[in-house]
Amino acid sequence: MTQDELKALVGQAALQYVVPGQVVGVGTGSTVNKFIDALATMKDRIPGAVSSSVASTERLRAIGIPVFDSNEVERISVYIDGADEIDHRGFMIKGGGAALTREKIVAAQSERFICIADESKLVEALGRFPVPVEVIPMAAQRVARQFAGMGGVAKLRMKDGQALVTDNGQHILDVSGLAIRDPLAFESEVNQWPGVVTVGVFAHQKAAVCLLGTAAGVKTLN
Ligand code: A5P
Repeated sequence: MTQDELKALVGQAALQYVVPGQVVGVGTGSTVNKFIDALATMKDRIPGAVSSSVASTERLRAIGIPVFDSNEVERISVYIDGADEIDHRGFMIKGGGAALTREKIVAAQSERFICIADESKLVEALGRFPVPVEVIPMAAQRVARQFAGMGGVAKLRMKDGQALVTDNGQHILDVSGLAIRDPLAFESEVNQWPGVVTVGVFAHQKAAVCLLGTAAGVKTLN
């Protein structure tokens, strides 16, 4: 099976977690796009969605699913999103699609995080994928130096020759070379550096369930 087919498999499998009659939280990325496509078959059974990016909002609306502002919705039972890396405890690196801040907000508002990923995303320890960190632009170089002090190398993410600007108007540093032995402690520490908006380690908002697409079918890890 191709990676694309594995993504479609888990996107479809995630439908079993969507609760009829309740708003669903929707993440961002190529795997989530497969989930959104599958969600079209349930659109008459849910009131709508809360989305984590402009891109997902547009895709949801294009198939006729209403998208609510997160402030309008008190309770989200399930949040479905992909990951760049996930370990066996459900800790993740996210933000390859630059949507990490809104993803963490919607995840924090949701009772259960269901991660959907192809098997290439499962790792023993987080850190091979460079950690995305959304920063206020004026803090970018100082935050990069703080990562250098931890042995990391931070690169400003670029798009079309310019610094990439997120949906929130901020920049992204991609930090490689980090040894993330304790994801909870790492996330807590980096979160409190001035100028850091969100660090792309999801340990406090970890996945409750991971639907992993493999050549043998969907494996459920929890
Ligand atoms: C978006 O910012 C990310 O957190 C995505 O969830 C992550 O990059 C996985 O994306 P793919 O499903 O495209 O691999």
